[in-house]
Parts: sequence; C-alpha cells; structure tokens
Amino acid sequence: MYFDPRPKESKRDFYNREKELKEFMDSLSNPLTLILGVRRSGKTSLLLVGLNEAKLPYMIIDCRDLPINPSKKDVILAFERGFNEMVKKHRKIWESIKNYLKIIEGVKILGLGASFSWEKTSPSSIISEINNWARDHNTRVVIAFDEFQQIRGAKEILTLIAHTYDYKRNISIVLTGSEMGLLYDALRIDDPKAPLYGRYLYEIKLKNFTREQAIEFLLLGFHQHNIKPSKRILEYAVDRFNGIPGWLTFFGAEATRRKTLSKEIIDEIFEKASLQALEEIKNFLKLRMAAAKRYKTILKSIASGRTRWSEIKRSLEAQEGRKLPNATVTNLLKNLVKTSIIKEENGNYTFMDPIIENAAKKL
Ligand SMILES: Nc1ncnc2c1ncn2[C@@H]1O[C@H](COP(=O)(O)OP(=O)(O)OP(=O)(O)O)[C@@H](O)[C@H]1O
Ligand SMILES: [Mg+2]
Repeated sequence: MYFDPRPKESKRDFYNREKELKEFMDSLSNPLTLILGVRRSGKTSLLLVGLNEAKLPYMIIDCRDLPINPSKKDVILAFERGFNEMVKKHRKIWESIKNYLKIIEGVKILGLGASFSWEKTSPSSIISEINNWARDHNTRVVIAFDEFQQIRGAKEILTLIAHTYDYKRNISIVLTGSEMGLLYDALRIDDPKAPLYGRYLYEIKLKNFTREQAIEFLLLGFHQHNIKPSKRILEYAVDRFNGIPGWLTFFGAEATRRKTLSKEIIDEIFEKASLQALEEIKNFLKLRMAAAKRYKTILKSIASGRTRWSEIKRSLEAQEGRKLPNATVTNLLKNLVKTSIIKEENGNYTFMDPIIENAAKKL
C-alpha cells in the first residue's frame, strides 16, 4: 500500500523507482555504495526493497540509534542486533554461519542468534567470519549503515569499512545519508590521511517526485482505498507537499483516515506535518548547542524571505546587537547547507522542503 507510513519493503508498494532500484542492485557487486537523498526521499525504502529483491543476506545498522561518538560497546551491540535480525530473516543461513561465528572470541551461540561480548569481541572479527562464510557459500553479504553521518565521530568504523573494502571481497557495504554534506565530511574520501582516501564510491541519488509523478502517486494511492479525488484537489495537495515521497505518504495516510478531502483538510494536514517538522528542527538545534541560537536566526530569516547572504548577516547582527565577521556568517551557512536543510544558489539561500520552511516560521 502506497500510504503505509513505514519504509517500504516490497517492490509492489514502491512507486516509480525502477531505475534507482536497478542501479542499486547492480551496485551491490561493488564494495561500497552510497544512497543519498533529502529526508523522506525514500532511502531506507530503496535499501530494503533492493536488498529483498537481490535476495542476499543483509544486516542493517541504524545509526540513528547510536550516539554521534559511539563507544565500542555501542558498536558491538548494534552489530549484534543487526546480525540477529539477519539470521532471523534468513533462517536457512543460520545452521552454517553459526559455525563460523562460534570461533570468535567472546561470541556465544544461542538457539537462533548470537550474543557478542563488548569486552572481548571485535567488529572486525565478526566481519571477517561473515566474509569467510560468504566466500565458502559463493555469495555476498551486505552490511548497511542507515544514516551513516549520525556516527561521524566513529573513526574506527571508517577504518573497519576501509579494511572491508580492501580485503573482504564477499561483503558489500552500503551507507545512506540525508545530511549529504555531513556524510561526505565523515567519509573524508579526499583526505590522504583518512582511512577511505581515494576509494571509489558508487553513488545513487534519490530525487523527489516530479509534479506529474506526485499527482499520479496520490491518485494510485487513493485508488487503493477506493477514494477518487478530483484532479483539482490532487493538484492543490501537491502544491503544498511538493514531490517529497514521505510527505505525500503522510498526507495520503491522514487523508484516507478522514475519508473526505477538501482544501481545508489539506491545509490542516499541512499544518500537522509542519508541527512534526518543527519538532525535528528543535531536536536538530538542541544538538547544535552553542550555535543553536544563530542557526535559529538564520532559519527564521530565510523562512521570512530574507534569503540573501547580506540579509542573513543583518538578521544575525540585529539578533546579537553587534557586528559579525563575514567568515562567521559564511561558515554558519556552509554548515547548514551540509545538513541539506537549505541549499544555496547564486548567493541565495532557500529551504529544500516547503514543510520545513513553514515550520521554521514557527520557531
Ligand atoms: N517510491 C515510494 N513509493 C511509495 N512510498 C514511498 C516511496 N518512497 C518513500 N515512500 C514512503 O515515504 C516515507 C519515507 O520513506 P523512507 O523512510 O524510505 O525515506 P528516507 O529517505 O529513509 O527517510 P528518512 O530521511 O526520514 O530516513 C515512508 O513512509 C515510505 O513508505
Ligand atoms: Mg531512512
């Protein structure tokens, strides 16, 4: 069903991503693939649908569950979760893969799954044995880190990925990221001193739906619920939610629950979405601590139409009651662009998402 709010897992529910799906599945023979796209563009869905289609065993590590600087214990427990979910999903591999895992120090084999000691087990030995299993069984295992930029403080993970890239031929790594600038910063591909320096990355970028696709997506989604909205209403909804798959899904789910569709109801759902976005911005600011006040001023400035560099500088100076160096303003803006909340074109800063923009007005 198109309006199911969870990430999609099957191709049947995944609208219009054949090209990206094929690209992703082809890329799984490479050591390292990146799936990039703004929030709610469908990265996790592409990952899950693609991995299910490829019929390869996979383990997923959701980096949103981890702190920015995860400890060894955090990492081992995340691996344990990912591994156990993999063997539960791919039960037939368990009987053979457990024999590889059991030789690792600190690993305890359970009925279906394993427990890893965070003092004795190392992530690299787990990867090594998974690789040995995959090699002996003539297959590949995919290890995916969803929202990898979230753990940009974890230097050892980069070393682990580089080592896997170079030596573990039967493992493919996939990283997804919505804060694209931060993801590139975390990978440090161009830094000769960084573990992943010079490695080739296969990149897949998820774009938003076009206006026509968004209208068709809504139309098909409503049809699945036997609702036949007018073209005019669908166009109005797409004016508000644009082509962002996650927001269109949110809208569709809310609208089918209410069973009637009018401009007023679309506006109401738009406001509900904005409140959710507002919570996300507040969380984002909370993590920025010292700079939070400045980021808030910038977001409010852009949301109110003061979108040029000089206008943003003036907003910041008015808020602080003092002159600011140009470099300070430029750096703040650069960092915000890296989070993919805003984008820059010819010295003009705008939001990537109209709902985030509406939410920023409420800050
Ligand atoms: N092509 C699609 N067809 C149908 N539904 C989709 C499609 N793409 C995304 N969705 C829906 O949009 C929502 C967001 O998708 P998903 O979680 O995969 O995106 P994401 O980019 O991983 O988001 P986030 O940045 O929040 O992690 C989900 O409800 C998902 O089911
Ligand atoms: Mg996701």
